[in-house]
Amino acid sequence: MTVTSSRTDPRRLRHVFGAFPSGVVAVAALTGDAPAGLAASSFTSVSLDPPLVSFCIARTSTTWPVLRAAPSLGVSILSGALEHAGRQLAGRAADRFAGLSWRATDGGAVLLEHASGWFETCIEQEVRAGDHDIVVLRVVDLDAHHDLSPLIFHASRFRHLESLVFDDNLS
Ligand SMILES: Cc1cc2nc3c(=O)[nH]c(=O)nc-3n(C[C@H](O)[C@H](O)[C@H](O)COP(=O)(O)O)c2cc1C
Repeated sequence: MTVTSSRTDPRRLRHVFGAFPSGVVAVAALTGDAPAGLAASSFTSVSLDPPLVSFCIARTSTTWPVLRAAPSLGVSILSGALEHAGRQLAGRAADRFAGLSWRATDGGAVLLEHASGWFETCIEQEVRAGDHDIVVLRVVDLDAHHDLSPLIFHASRFRHLESLVFDDNLS
């Protein structure tokens, strides 16, 4: 059943969802010899034990059926220096990885160089959620580079953090 009203039409939803700032990740894997991937801003951490993260994928995605067949998925947290990668990985270029520096893990996860952090993952669970699926990923390896400030997506625009303050450690 489609539940929309003028209060919750997709344009309005996109507008208000955009008030919540997020990072952007590249979800990518080797398919044969070539990398496949897409940009996603719906990434979030989920669980410490077991180690889980998630993102949401549109059911219309043409890349997800390819990615979900891969044994291992890389999730790279885009740094400000990777804004062009964010655009390219969401676009229609024949080769979304053209000009990007990346490496593949032994398991075939594709990770971008110059990322603020990365996870090597495998799919734990997929949950149908309206016109998207929530994809829960189990983390098998990870690292972070806090000196590379992350790319921010807010109000349909890429933005950059002006400075990072490390004084208030909330972890
Ligand atoms: C900043 C940004 C964030 C995005 N976040 C998501 C997301 O969380 N989930 C999703 O399914 N698509 C997201 N997209 C769209 C995908 O990157 C991609 O364009 C879409 O999956 C269509 O390509 P495909 O048919 O190759 O999958 C985002 C695009 C941009 C530019």
